[in-house]
Amino acid sequence: MPSVTAVHGDITAQQVDAIVNAANRQMRGGGGVDGAIHRAGGPAILADCVARFPAGLATGDAGWTTAGDLPATWVIHTVGPNHAAGERDRALLESCYRRALEVADELGVTSIAFPLISAGVYAWPLDDAIAAAVETIAQTPTGVEHVRLVSFSEPTHRRVRAQVLRVSSPSTEPGSIGRLFDEGPPVWGTRGDPYLWRALRAEFASTPLPSDRAELHRAVMSAAGAIAGAPIGDETVYVADFDPGHGMSAGHVSGAWWQSTGLPLLMERFDSSGLRPGH
Ligand code: APR
Repeated sequence: MPSVTAVHGDITAQQVDAIVNAANRQMRGGGGVDGAIHRAGGPAILADCVARFPAGLATGDAGWTTAGDLPATWVIHTVGPNHAAGERDRALLESCYRRALEVADELGVTSIAFPLISAGVYAWPLDDAIAAAVETIAQTPTGVEHVRLVSFSEPTHRRVRAQVLRVSSPSTEPGSIGRLFDEGPPVWGTRGDPYLWRALRAEFASTPLPSDRAELHRAVMSAAGAIAGAPIGDETVYVADFDPGHGMSAGHVSGAWWQSTGLPLLMERFDSSGLRPGH
């Protein structure tokens, strides 16, 4: 399975082998990502679209062209279902990610950047557009090693990051703070706690352990508050980014659990595993 990373930025600036375009069936350019890619990549992309896709591209299918002046080598165009026009078949949206990865494999691509297909002009509900992307990428066998899910807006990026952490988490470096989080706790407080745990593990995947436990405690609590958007005290905190849209308590972080279980567990691991520098 490829590494999957949520990125906040402009897909046309990604330094990868291929970037994926949220195209339309005509394959002659448009707005959103489509417009940005054709503007940044130049006329060579449109010329290749005309030459290679004289009849356009079906919804759910994918095809490649040159990337023109873009940092990437190829653009892999795919056409998502237009939710605004009544196209509601989720299998077609999933097919966009699966077919784009198949085309990437044909090209020998090792790094690829996806936008959230259908989540803009085509108005697919955001949380489900994110879930379709994250789940399909996680379930599709591919030779691609690095996948980026690029979000233009920061709020969308935060939601993508939380969902990406649900299905794949980066490896942590030896001696890092993140390594303390490698093994999950025996029990969680509420359903948002695993999201915060994985987000902290990713945040500190390559941060060296500090010299003493007070500094570790401060660093973890500070990062937890920044990710959750509120200090982690004794109260329950609602974190919208952690809520995959299925409601219930999915987005709630239990401050009481972190104070009574999560943090003490991390401190014990710090004290007992000899990870303290100089010990
Ligand atoms: N980089 C990254 N993401 C972007 C960028 C960008 N430069 N521009 C837009 N996005 C985001 C949008 O915010 C949205 O979340 O990409 C997602 C897809 O939005 P659209 O580009 O509108 O694509 P889509 O919803 O699939 O609609 C496709 O819109 O642009 C036209 O020609 C295109 O007709 C087609 C339709």
